[in-house]
Amino acid sequence: MANSYSALSRHYDLIMTSGYYDYEAYAQALLAELDHHGDLLELGVGTGLVCERLLELVGSDLRITGIDHTKSMLTQARARLGDPVQLMHQTSRR
Ligand SMILES: C[S@@+](CC[C@H](N)C(=O)[O-])C[C@H]1O[C@@H](n2cnc3c(N)ncnc32)[C@H](O)[C@@H]1O
Repeated sequence: MANSYSALSRHYDLIMTSGYYDYEAYAQALLAELDHHGDLLELGVGTGLVCERLLELVGSDLRITGIDHTKSMLTQARARLGDPVQLMHQTSRR
């Protein structure tokens, strides 16, 4: 099956940060449900927009690992998040 995020990734941040989505509110809602001082695994981390807000709110007390199957999304996540977040490329086995 084709991965639609490969084609979308170049424009993804522009679309998602144009004002419709409130990442600050998403991160606050997640933190209300999470332990702030532990390990967090984000499946489908994308370009790291939620991750970035979580780090801004909590800092290094939260150790985040992000997994994604779209390399071009992970490339942007790495540029956004830097080294503190572990990023992994998911490859499927069939
Ligand atoms: C809407 S984006 C979410 C981005 C991120 N959660 C955020 O909002 O900051 C969805 C991401 O999930 C990834 N994804 C979708 N299905 C996946 C799968 N089966 N395995 C790994 N990654 C997947 C896509 O490549 C894409 O980067």
